[in-house]
Amino acid sequence: MLPMNSDPAYYYNLMAEHYARKSETDIHNVYYNLPAIKALLPPLEGKKVLEVGCGGGLLTEWLIKQKAKVTAVDISEKMVALTKRRVGKKAKIVLADISTSLDFVATASIDVIICSLVLHYVNNWLPVFAEFQRVLKANGPIVISTHHPHADWLWFNRPIYFKKELYEDQWVIDGQTFTVKFYHRTLANMFAIFKKYSFYVETLLEPLPLPDAKSIDPKTYARLLAKPHFLFLRLKKLPSSKI
Ligand SMILES: C[S@@+](CC[C@H](N)C(=O)[O-])C[C@H]1O[C@@H](n2cnc3c(N)ncnc32)[C@H](O)[C@@H]1O
Repeated sequence: MLPMNSDPAYYYNLMAEHYARKSETDIHNVYYNLPAIKALLPPLEGKKVLEVGCGGGLLTEWLIKQKAKVTAVDISEKMVALTKRRVGKKAKIVLADISTSLDFVATASIDVIICSLVLHYVNNWLPVFAEFQRVLKANGPIVISTHHPHADWLWFNRPIYFKKELYEDQWVIDGQTFTVKFYHRTLANMFAIFKKYSFYVETLLEPLPLPDAKSIDPKTYARLLAKPHFLFLRLKKLPSSKI
């Protein structure tokens, strides 16, 4: 079935090349998102990593350099193709929607799950975390970056913070305008879902951008110094005695 224009597969297919190229230099990614994600990751040598929403494969390539055994997943065929082009056969790259089954991943086989800037595109997190609970080994972390719910609510000037709703944004990349839609949900909603699937938040980061970003994009740098933009979390499974 072809994706509809409200599906992430639709708009990520449309802007795949543009997004992938921009994410290699963009301050939000290179000087803010990636350093915080990396700070939350354990040593990865020999570890089985499930990276969901891999985009153009920039992080996938870094994970491979850390000697991780990577399975990378994306809902967009174009993104999957770009990641394959970047890393070849050095990772298993799968076209899949994480809100359906991850049946290509064996139970209790994964050491680390990474969700970099993907969960805000997913309407229903319940099947996602049910599958994360199934595939992750007992001690494995889930490292997440997602929109900071207070920041996106303010940025989009919505009347009700507490309402889960689809926000619509326009991104201009390479002079072209792309419509992107994502879900706003409260912090309490996120934490309730983690708890339902026996995960707890071990670390929460609201980082600052790296200082090198100042000379590249002073305006965005100043904004990120003043206001949160993404939220970074490291989850762990609750010991079974506490479930
Ligand atoms: C903002 S990009 C992030 C890409 C990369 N992780 C990064 O940090 O640069 C979001 C990616 O998530 C993918 N995505 C969105 N919803 C998804 C879903 N339900 N299942 C799998 N991938 C999804 C999109 O196709 C896109 O490549």
